Amino acid sequence: MSKTLVQEQFGKTAASYLTSKPHALGKSLERMVALTAPQKSWRALDVATGGGHVAYAFAPHVERIWASDITQEMLDMVKAEAQKRGLANLRTTYAKAEALPFEDASFDLVTCRIAPHHFESIPAFLGEVHRVLKPGGLLALVDNVVPAGSVGDYINAFERFRDPSHLRAWTMEEWRDALKAQKLAVTHEEQIGKTMEFNGWAARHDATMQALLRSMLTQTTPAVNAVLEPKDVGGDITFRLCEGLFIAKRA
Ligand SMILES: C[S@@+](CC[C@H](N)C(=O)[O-])C[C@H]1O[C@@H](n2cnc3c(N)ncnc32)[C@H](O)[C@@H]1O
Repeated sequence: MSKTLVQEQFGKTAASYLTSKPHALGKSLERMVALTAPQKSWRALDVATGGGHVAYAFAPHVERIWASDITQEMLDMVKAEAQKRGLANLRTTYAKAEALPFEDASFDLVTCRIAPHHFESIPAFLGEVHRVLKPGGLLALVDNVVPAGSVGDYINAFERFRDPSHLRAWTMEEWRDALKAQKLAVTHEEQIGKTMEFNGWAARHDATMQALLRSMLTQTTPAVNAVLEPKDVGGDITFRLCEGLFIAKRA
């Protein structure tokens, strides 16, 4: 079977997601654990696990966590890393977010972090989350969010230029509406800013492409500039992105 764009992009760059600072150390990881108060009896599912950081954070607190993804290179890496960390209750499996291979009402907790902007259908993903959660079960969701309108469109275009599998980061309002539409009641939401380092972020590209990305970051409108806040830090440029975090409950 031929690889999808997502599998191709993430297959090539899998190893970088194990060590990437915003993924391995991002503040949203500890917030997800604190806000869901996981129990030792829980069965949990991490959708689009990437380098597995959410699964590693939750594994010590639950009975079993499934780390799932559609990119085999990620799953192989997470399995090896879980063994290294002695996380015997972590299992890996292939699972497409829009068609989860699990029975109805089989999880107390579903997590998904920094991934839905790659999904073909976020509504289909949320419908599946509702289906596999037990009544009263929790969704802990984090994704990059953008402001509404042309500034958000520009940020999405900038991200898509680096990674064509980035489809679209949503606004907080779009998330609120989509969660409500799938009968997932939001019990908490917050936004978390994060500082990105341009050199690492653009490292997968050659010098010509990096120069184009740099100019998209530094030569833009005042409105985009006010959100991305590019800063020359001597040899690198930092910029700001924002994550939206939602805790939602299945009735
Ligand atoms: C940035 S990584 C995820 C980061 C990770 N969740 C974390 O918190 O560090 C994005 C992952 O989403 C996966 N992915 C993209 N589309 C998917 C889909 N439709 N179903 C399942 N996984 C998907 C990719 O294979 C990739 O491993």
